[in-house]
Amino acid sequence: MTDPEPNPLLATIAKKIDDIDRFMWDAAVALAVNAISGDYVEFGSWGGNTLRVAHERFRHAGTPRHLWAFDSFEGLPEATDPRDHHPGWRSGGAGQGGVEAFHATCDDHGIPRDAYTAVVGYYDDTLPALGATGAPTDVALAYLDCNMYSSTVAALAFLSPRLKHGMVLAFDDYWCWSADDVAGERSAFLEFVAAHPQWHFERFKEVNWGGTSFVVERADRLTPR
Ligand SMILES: C[S@@+](CC[C@H](N)C(=O)[O-])C[C@H]1O[C@@H](n2cnc3c(N)ncnc32)[C@H](O)[C@@H]1O
Repeated sequence: MTDPEPNPLLATIAKKIDDIDRFMWDAAVALAVNAISGDYVEFGSWGGNTLRVAHERFRHAGTPRHLWAFDSFEGLPEATDPRDHHPGWRSGGAGQGGVEAFHATCDDHGIPRDAYTAVVGYYDDTLPALGATGAPTDVALAYLDCNMYSSTVAALAFLSPRLKHGMVLAFDDYWCWSADDVAGERSAFLEFVAAHPQWHFERFKEVNWGGTSFVVERADRLTPR
């Protein structure tokens, strides 16, 4: 029997994790060297792949940080906006298995239970309940891997009162657009930038073929003094 042909899609996904690993290392070191305090906050955690990389890289950089995993653990919600649509996204999560499956995955990945907090539910329910003052209040790196425009709007609204100079904001799906519109995470971010002129978002490192990241800076620090 001959070996099956390699699946090019699987190779792309494997490369993506390598790229995210590289990004996470650069971010972990930059945040450590620049003495930026705070937690790692992730929107879209099911699968535990990015959480594993974050856990390992912050440890290797000598600055373990508490990890926050915000997810329904039941899959993407129904689309509510045209900018939610993407040929690759499917709502619902047959097979995600809820948060217990996520805990089992984290166990397999070697992430101790006390290293992370899973916030279970759809963002429209969980994030407003935490408001502007609920934990996590100090964020060093926010990693958005929630694919959809509406989900990204909700995550960014949660982050808005938690923005601080020097933190990093990363988007896993920034370069995932639709055939007839600016879509998804990028669309939500462009609106967010326009609504927050007090902050400057300087392009930082590429996350993978589909993502990128920004350092948050105080806009009033950019002019010569
Ligand atoms: C691409 S997956 C995350 C993959 C994960 N980062 C990994 O590396 O394995 C996207 C996740 O975002 C979650 N998600 C998207 N929008 C959401 C929302 N509005 N509320 C809760 N979870 C959401 C979905 O449940 C899904 O599990």
